[in-house]
Amino acid sequence: MRYQRPKGTADILPGTSETWQFVEQTARDLFARYRFDEIRTPMFENFEVFSRTSGDTSDIVTKEMYDFKDKGDRHLSLRPEGTAGVVRAFVENKLYGPETQKPYKVYYMGPMFRYERPQSGRQREFHQIGVEAFGSNAPELDVEVIALGMNLLSKLGLKHLRLALNTLGDQETRAAYRQALIDFLEPHFDELSDDSKVRLHKNPLRVLDSKDAHDQEIVADAPSILDFLTPDATTHFNQVKASLDALGIAYDVDATMVRGLDYYNHTIFEIMADSPALGEGYTTVLAGGRYNGLVEELGGPEMPGVGFGMGVERLVLLMQAEKVAVPNDHPLDVYVVGIGDETSIETLKLVQAIRRAGLTADRDYLGRKPKAQFKTANRLDAHYTLTIGDQELANQTANLKAMATGEEVSVPLADIYQDFQAVVAQKFTTK
Ligand code: HAM
Repeated sequence: MRYQRPKGTADILPGTSETWQFVEQTARDLFARYRFDEIRTPMFENFEVFSRTSGDTSDIVTKEMYDFKDKGDRHLSLRPEGTAGVVRAFVENKLYGPETQKPYKVYYMGPMFRYERPQSGRQREFHQIGVEAFGSNAPELDVEVIALGMNLLSKLGLKHLRLALNTLGDQETRAAYRQALIDFLEPHFDELSDDSKVRLHKNPLRVLDSKDAHDQEIVADAPSILDFLTPDATTHFNQVKASLDALGIAYDVDATMVRGLDYYNHTIFEIMADSPALGEGYTTVLAGGRYNGLVEELGGPEMPGVGFGMGVERLVLLMQAEKVAVPNDHPLDVYVVGIGDETSIETLKLVQAIRRAGLTADRDYLGRKPKAQFKTANRLDAHYTLTIGDQELANQTANLKAMATGEEVSVPLADIYQDFQAVVAQKFTTK
């Protein structure tokens, strides 16, 4: 019996996993520079951690949750996103306390799960790299999070990015806007999609985010949230824009953008790429915003937060489309060629010695003839071959050859076992 992987999942094979490692390493290095530390939270949480935070009218909660009862009848869910679990951990570990430096800045990377219709750049198991910063209301922190996102994507070789920016204001803004939207949408009630009919009174902002074409036509004329901002919300948004200007980060204000999760307020943003790799039009690769009530929602004190999540699958597709070069961080230093059965133990010892000396080494394990072994060394792009036959074994030597120059020297085995790096340094001027 052969099995296929579940729909919406992927195997990340060697050849592509190097790109993933490069992405992860680049992110870790950059996060360190911005002084974010890593946090690792469980892949599953109590269902309520997500249902209370993502919003009970969101697609994530109503349609996409991988939730289940475990054998102890606990209602759990595989995480659909990273923020809620991090906030849960932040509260549970009392990281809001005076012992931790504020803003408290963390990052994470790992798999997330949403029951969605798979397509290019959209999977049921996908991966996010995200950051969260707690404990400051400063608009400069929103901007630093955005700048970090832009910085990361450009370090990874992406061009043609568009930063879409909006604000959802504060609670007062939301309440006023909510009513204005209801007033606007009610006359269109019969024309709305079934989802939007349900959402109209529960959460009219969700209607703005509807995927339904006719819903979209209706909301095109909806009032703009920017007309409902309180003075505080206006000030915050203006400062965000001024700080982005100061850093020379271009953006488009998109007053219709609402995001698919309910926990946001004030700044929200999406960084989008326009690439055929992800289908028609712009696709969001990195998105986030401010979520000032979330820590309280999960039982903590009043404590603001801001962050982003980046979709790694989408990013990798874009990198491949843009042919971003990924460095090969473990090239083959030495291929050890053994000629004759008698040399097998010695070649085994030699590859081990070379690896111990801090270099990469490989040999043949399939009883290939010398010619085929040299071919393999070439194909693997080995920097050196180290050849040992019966004669060399008898003399306790081996032939070291630099593949780039063809230069070849005989080296005592004892020297190799003592310090292979020194042998290379002595015998060849270039490594
Ligand atoms: P989100 O917009 O739901 O936000 O997801 C962030 C990114 O994850 C998306 O822009 C996309 O690149 C990727 N993504 C989402 N769903 C899928 C999928 N099914 N397949 C592939 N990629 C996907 C959040 O998750 C928030 N937690 C972000 C955040 C962090 N906000 C504040 N802090």
